[in-house]
Amino acid sequence: MANLETTFTGIHFPNPFLVSSSPSTTNAHMIKKAFRAGWGGVVLKTVGLEPTPNPSPRMQVVKDGRDKRGLVNIELISDLTALQWVDELKSIRDEFPERPLIASIMGGGRAEDWQEVVHLLEPHGVNAFEMNVSCPNFAHGGRGSQLGQDPESLALAIGWVRQATSLPLWVKLTPNVADVTPLAQVAKEMGADAVVATNTLSGMAGVDLECFAPLPTVGGIGIFGGYSGPGLKAVALRCAASIGRAVDIPLAGCGGISKWRDAAEYMTVGASLVQVCTAVMWNGYEIIAKLTKGLNDYLDQHDLATVNDLVGKALPQLKNYPDIDLNIKLLAYVDPNKCNGCGLCVRACDAGGFEALFIQDKKAVVDVLVCDGCGLCIGMCPTDGISMVAKAAP
Ligand SMILES: Cc1cc2nc3c(=O)[nH]c(=O)nc-3n(C[C@H](O)[C@H](O)[C@H](O)COP(=O)(O)O)c2cc1C
Repeated sequence: MANLETTFTGIHFPNPFLVSSSPSTTNAHMIKKAFRAGWGGVVLKTVGLEPTPNPSPRMQVVKDGRDKRGLVNIELISDLTALQWVDELKSIRDEFPERPLIASIMGGGRAEDWQEVVHLLEPHGVNAFEMNVSCPNFAHGGRGSQLGQDPESLALAIGWVRQATSLPLWVKLTPNVADVTPLAQVAKEMGADAVVATNTLSGMAGVDLECFAPLPTVGGIGIFGGYSGPGLKAVALRCAASIGRAVDIPLAGCGGISKWRDAAEYMTVGASLVQVCTAVMWNGYEIIAKLTKGLNDYLDQHDLATVNDLVGKALPQLKNYPDIDLNIKLLAYVDPNKCNGCGLCVRACDAGGFEALFIQDKKAVVDVLVCDGCGLCIGMCPTDGISMVAKAAP
């Protein structure tokens, strides 16, 4: 059986799954629930010198019919002071003396904002600090993602925190930039021990079409929020992979992870630890059991003894556009034993492909002379009955 234990920035984790800084880590009570369920570690809800009250409502699930696509939140940082967190930490440590606790911290453009929080929390059993330079809801006054988008301010702030602590220092990056790698590079150069990719993507959940206010609506107005959950994964994974291949620094993946498979994908692009938020909020702390079992089974099936054996495995295959071989030509193959004749592939091919699929005797059939091998139909098939095969030589 594979070993999910891992060491990241010198900290030993019983498994590589952490609950990220979020409502699910908002106080000792919630954090203990995470630990009892079996999470490898937690990142505290972001603590600042000045606690913030939170808007109500502050969360809007983005749906398509009954399907949940993501979550937009306009939550701010912890409503507890750093001093109140000291009591929370003591209470956690009474029950869980060893389990890794990462303190997420936020400050602005003054060294004291950061350093005082570090000094208050450090003696009370935190294992590392994670700088939140990436919250899009709090992006004003040089805080949040405003700070994390500007390499010079970022360097300054990391320098202040680096000076204040010798504990491992993680920097949680924002996906709201064209290229995240220079920011990861800054983190490395300023002495951070790891980066986390990523926080939420700036987004807008929708508009109330009766009162014309953005959602979620607070007292008749709305603001842009942070988009998380399944819809974020493609963007955050791209950020993680860009860092994985360009910057030599330990990496934690975060964004849209809800299944072991998502976590494994982050690992293949260089993450040796992952953080989860929305999936915990939607499904409960207990999902950790499925995440660890799924990852364990996968590692066993692939004869990989540890998580580290998976880290970076997809990076050699990650290239740039000119490297794609445009001479490769494939076409769709429908397995008649799997096809249920639903016609979803035909409809998609008619509108977004090459009109190469049709129904014959209640089964989808490919016109091999017309099919251009675009691959759209594969994802449309509800029975996984379509694959790509090589086009026969003319
Ligand atoms: C309601 C809510 C509150 C959050 N609060 C924080 C926070 O205080 N600090 C932080 O660094 N990230 C915060 N996040 C971001 C998450 O930690 C995580 O980076 C993001 O949601 C992407 O992961 P996910 O797709 O698994 O949710 C919050 C996310 C949500 C949904």
